[in-house]
Amino acid sequence: MSEFAVKISGINKSFKKNHPILKEINLNVECGEMVGLIGASGSGKSTLMRLIAGFETIDDGNGSIKLFGSLCQTNGHQTSAVKTLRSDIGIIFQQFNLVGRLTLLMNVLAGRLGRIGRLQGTFGVFPKNDRIKALQALERVGILDKAYQRASTLSGGQQQRAAIARTLTQEAKLILADEPIASLDPGSAEKVMKTLRKINKQDQVTVIVSLHQIEHAFKHCDRIIALKEGRVVHNSKVSDISQKDIENLYDVELSEKKDHLWDFTKDISKELDKVPLHKISSTVSNDYEIVSSRNVN
Ligand SMILES: Nc1ncnc2c1ncn2[C@@H]1O[C@H](COP(=O)(O)OP(=O)(O)OP(=O)(O)O)[C@@H](O)[C@H]1O
Ligand SMILES: [Mg+2]
Repeated sequence: MSEFAVKISGINKSFKKNHPILKEINLNVECGEMVGLIGASGSGKSTLMRLIAGFETIDDGNGSIKLFGSLCQTNGHQTSAVKTLRSDIGIIFQQFNLVGRLTLLMNVLAGRLGRIGRLQGTFGVFPKNDRIKALQALERVGILDKAYQRASTLSGGQQQRAAIARTLTQEAKLILADEPIASLDPGSAEKVMKTLRKINKQDQVTVIVSLHQIEHAFKHCDRIIALKEGRVVHNSKVSDISQKDIENLYDVELSEKKDHLWDFTKDISKELDKVPLHKISSTVSNDYEIVSSRNVN
């Protein structure tokens, strides 16, 4: 049997002593799956993603994280596999994380940085094959005509599709997308989610995507993992999750029972939008720019 893309066993994560943010997390993600990570603000979604990416380290103890069969973290430390595996992980954030003054093509080519020599990378000299790969990736996400435009001149949806193209150029085996559609209008959000799903299906790239617009998790993902206060409270196929489960997850109640997942998840998203900001626990933002584990600004 092939290895899991992600295997998390019994991990905890605390930032302060005796204040675990993630508690006894056990979960597996199969190669080629697309998993939606949902849960209220502060439930630990980004922290979990950051642990998988190797940007944070798990607490001491018996917990471990394996990616594609290689042990990345155990007993409070990261192994040397983390560095090697980082070039296999494509990361997409809410804030697009493109370099605005560079063309879309250069941004997408940055996906190759982990795969080419340091000197070439420093001077931005990419082999012809890489340029072809980048252009093909832009074509696949539907924005080839924007290849030579500055990233800052593109819409949010186009920038996010470019971020997906960057993971394609990178030849990522695992995409971690942390709220990729949070800043987008509904039409652009749908396009971005469809693009992610297309790549997941066509290339068998494993995708973990955290979403506040949970209707998209239900529509596009194979499986839902729900976190509540740092614990996994649901881990099942989309069809096995009920309206009541979601109401309990977010501590909201809808006035009526909806027949279709899409309807009730959309209504719950609307309910959540009504919660005043001061009621949402503060979280650490992801507003740093990373391109293949290299700071670019
Ligand atoms: N580096 C850090 N130092 C201290 N506390 C942190 C750090 N990162 C996250 N936290 C805390 O961990 C908890 C979970 O945060 P996290 O960002 O993972 O939640 P989230 O589910 O992604 O929330 P959101 O939906 O708002 O993005 C929060 O209480 C947050 O304040
Ligand atoms: Mg988050």
